Amino acid sequence: MSLLDMRKYVNNARGVHWLFIMVLIGIAFYLPFLIFGAFPYNTKTNTNPDEMGQLLEGFESVDFYAMSEFLSDSPKQIQKEIDAFETWEGGKCRFCHAVKEDDRDRMAPSLYGIFGRPAGVGDNYTYSDALMNLKSNGLIWTPELLDAFISNPSNFMPGNRMRVQGIEDLETRKLIVNYLMRESKPIKEE
Ligand code: HEC
Repeated sequence: MSLLDMRKYVNNARGVHWLFIMVLIGIAFYLPFLIFGAFPYNTKTNTNPDEMGQLLEGFESVDFYAMSEFLSDSPKQIQKEIDAFETWEGGKCRFCHAVKEDDRDRMAPSLYGIFGRPAGVGDNYTYSDALMNLKSNGLIWTPELLDAFISNPSNFMPGNRMRVQGIEDLETRKLIVNYLMRESKPIKEE
């Protein structure tokens, strides 16, 4: 093999390697979207306070977390709620969603203060058009709507990016709603 041939071979191999790496990077970006509906880059659509005020007009004074006072305080019941929200057999919600104000961002919008919150206003998250449409139609998350949504996400909101089958069991859905009532309650600023 002449020196020239050798150089050709090396250049060619280098090209193939780069192609291979580009394909790997492509797949690495696409997989989280395919599996979790996560966006590989951020086109923040954070809602500004004015817009938020408009969306909440007429709802500012409703305390959606009032029901949390009636929740059972038996440790067994609380554990059931945690299991429903966190485990794979339950809703696996915890896998994708943060709940507390200071939780780290996960691949899905935070559910902190979700009850009484307009759809599609979570910070630092790129929502699907489906969810942005709900937001502009003025949807406010109530326990009933959340229940309906998780019972069949793609039916409730065609084209959304929450890759979840839907929870058929009414009791599990109730436990999940209770969990959020308890855990996502916003800390009121005085
Ligand atoms: C596989 C990851 C994943 C799991 C598991 C998951 N979600 Fe989601 N969820 C998402 C994504 C992604 C979105 C945003 C969807 C969009 O933009 O279309 C979302 C959106 C939502 C929203 C609307 C948020 C908003 O700001 O309007 C609610 C409410 C919600 N999920 C509740 C739940 C509950 C309750 C569970 C458990 C039953 C759950 N999710 C399980 C990924 C997930």
